[in-house]
Amino acid sequence: MYRAVNQHQSFGNGPHFCQGTHVARRAVGQVMLPILFERFPNMSIPNLDDVLWRGFGFRGPVQMPVLLQ
Ligand code: HEM
Repeated sequence: MYRAVNQHQSFGNGPHFCQGTHVARRAVGQVMLPILFERFPNMSIPNLDDVLWRGFGFRGPVQMPVLLQ
């Protein structure tokens, strides 16, 4: 029996929790973000009101328009 389709993009939960969590987090934190900030040193959020926050226990921005310059 297949599981229901889940739209989330986290690392899952329980016995099949993603085994690559730490690799993926380090790739984002130590590779992707530094390259992004190096490439766009003046990146900014033009309008803070456009940033939408959602969630309580698992909280974060679901929309964050940035200006790459
Ligand atoms: C942003 C990157 C990644 C995301 C969002 C992600 C997400 C997920 C999700 C949702 C699952 C299923 C959890 C479940 O069935 O409950 C999973 C399983 C798994 N992931 Fe990832 N993953 C990422 C990167 C990686 C990387 C880089 C590796 C390996 C180096 C990896 C290895 C695995 C393995 C082996 C499983 C199966 C675990 C099991 O069935 O016991 N993942 N991942």
